[in-house]
Amino acid sequence: MKCTLMNKYTGVLVAEYDSATSVFTKIYEVKDINYAPYILKSLYIEKDINDASFRTNLSEWFKGRGIPSWRDKLDLLLHRLNITAPYELLDKAFGLSLSDQYWLKPEGSNISYDDINFFDNDFDYAEFMEASLSDNSKVITKVSSLKTPNNTTDGMLKKAWIIDNGTRYLLKGGYKNETLQPFNEVLASEICKRLGFDHVEYTIDTYKDMVVSKCPCFVTKNTEFVTCHQVINDMKRHDSIKDYEEYIKKLEDNGIENAREKVENMYILDFLIMNEDRHLNNFGIIRNVNTLEWFDVAPIFDNGQSLNMEYFDDEEVHISGNGRFFYEVKPFDEIIKVVRDLKRIDISKLDGLVEWFDELLHKYQHLTGYSDTRINKLCILLNRQINKLKRLIEE
Ligand SMILES: Nc1ncnc2c1ncn2[C@@H]1O[C@H](COP(=O)(O)OP(=O)(O)OP(=O)(O)O)[C@@H](O)[C@H]1O
Ligand SMILES: [Mg+2]
Repeated sequence: MKCTLMNKYTGVLVAEYDSATSVFTKIYEVKDINYAPYILKSLYIEKDINDASFRTNLSEWFKGRGIPSWRDKLDLLLHRLNITAPYELLDKAFGLSLSDQYWLKPEGSNISYDDINFFDNDFDYAEFMEASLSDNSKVITKVSSLKTPNNTTDGMLKKAWIIDNGTRYLLKGGYKNETLQPFNEVLASEICKRLGFDHVEYTIDTYKDMVVSKCPCFVTKNTEFVTCHQVINDMKRHDSIKDYEEYIKKLEDNGIENAREKVENMYILDFLIMNEDRHLNNFGIIRNVNTLEWFDVAPIFDNGQSLNMEYFDDEEVHISGNGRFFYEVKPFDEIIKVVRDLKRIDISKLDGLVEWFDELLHKYQHLTGYSDTRINKLCILLNRQINKLKRLIEE
């Protein structure tokens, strides 16, 4: 299919896209490389628009917008969607998503972004939600409409975009039989709210007796989410501290205010809930797609992989105690040292948080089946981290 890769209203490049293999086989013309996905712009070689490695990167980027091969219960989802691989979905709805504004405009078509984008235009979600979230393998939901942003969701967890009262929300389940992720998301939101950190607000919802988290879309028609991975892709790799400093500098150089403080806030949250999953696609920046201005640090999101206990009993609890800091896996006690001034945190705002979390976990005990011992251990862990942070602030 000959098509133009569009960024909202702006044509980026004209190319041949092979749906059967999800590969861009030829680039005919580059219209405006500035509007290309951030990661591609630095890889573009003006002298050779058909450079094989650029085309590979273009295909990889496009594939990366789809459902990954490591998605929980992927086999079941593919079966329900009646497809053999997630990439078959990539161009089903022009490749549109709710995290950015890229799409493929078929050659000769006069379709416009305003007619098709999922921010303004409604989509059917009930069948996809069932196909994606339902745990019962006997349930065979056939999905009749693939005009949905659910074709292009990243991440390991089962998830579905839905519309509720006109607002686009992302529902996310737990991982396999673990159901703690949604509660951690809500705990993270509560901490961010109390400490005044920019964040995506997660709430608990239920889908057929299953606990899921629900959060509104943090991207608008005028913005895109650019991951840290994309931002630092053209930088030379040193050690994590230097990479981190370069990342902060790049954000500041591009006019993002309070960039350091906002990124530090994320690591403070990760310390408090022991989030093990702050990989480079779980944070980043928001860019204006009309002006290409770097607008802000993206609000803190995806905090579910936290408070992980490897085992616990009445006497003890065993945890890994390692988080992620750029390319490294490091103890939380080390990562937190990146925060220059912990005294700016008013820790008293977290008074009563443990009791709040205890109550939340008990409220859904009939659905999760958590034992009182497990809830107690989770609260002990949270309390321990709060106290540790308190001591660090007082040092
Ligand atoms: N509220 C949101 N608004 C817009 N885009 C979002 C939102 N939440 C998530 N996304 C996009 O969807 C991707 C997957 O979401 P998320 O990271 O929450 O899922 P996950 O399955 O927990 O991921 P992981 O594989 O990192 O565990 C994100 O990287 C981001 O691009
Ligand atoms: Mg993620």
